[in-house]
Amino acid sequence: MESGYKTGKVLISAREIQNRVDALADKIASGTRGRELLVVGILNGAVIFLSDLVRRMPLELDVKIDFMSISSYGNAVKSSGVVRILKDIGSDIAGKDVLIVEDIIDTGLTLSYLLNILNARRPASLRTCVLLDKSEKREIPVTIDYCGFSIPDVFVVGYGLDCGGSLRHLSDIHALDAIDAIDG
Ligand code: IMP
Repeated sequence: MESGYKTGKVLISAREIQNRVDALADKIASGTRGRELLVVGILNGAVIFLSDLVRRMPLELDVKIDFMSISSYGNAVKSSGVVRILKDIGSDIAGKDVLIVEDIIDTGLTLSYLLNILNARRPASLRTCVLLDKSEKREIPVTIDYCGFSIPDVFVVGYGLDCGGSLRHLSDIHALDAIDAIDG
């Protein structure tokens, strides 16, 4: 049975992604001063990126993993910037080195909200790692410490990114033509 999606052209291939993830893991590891790093993935989109990223980190770094899940109020096209925590991390981050891992930044509302919440808990350091940066629609400036790729303002799916919950499992990142996404 077909999913009804035509995924459009490949914007970033699986090979390009893996090469970039290697480089990001190296940079993150060498930029971490402490011996321990808490990597916080934002569900659900960052799961695949995070799982590849942490497996490239060296044994010497004590990597711990946790997840947050948030819901953003707004419509499918535009986030309202009002965010609710659906699942919080399970440990106290005071005094810890923390890395937020997110799939994509668009307006910046989601990430800036998360940074505010986590900064208030007084970590030793709080850095951000984002696979894709769609900077054209940025409304709030956010410091991205580690960025995978800058992309134009197109809707993308695959490698964790979804359209209505589907297409996260694709190995490449595709630009999705809105018309192609209509059930067929
Ligand atoms: P922001 O709050 O506008 O920066 O939006 C970030 C969130 O919007 C991401 O975590 C994604 O869930 C979603 N998003 C933005 N652009 C895309 C896209 O092209 N494909 C899939 N999800 C997207």
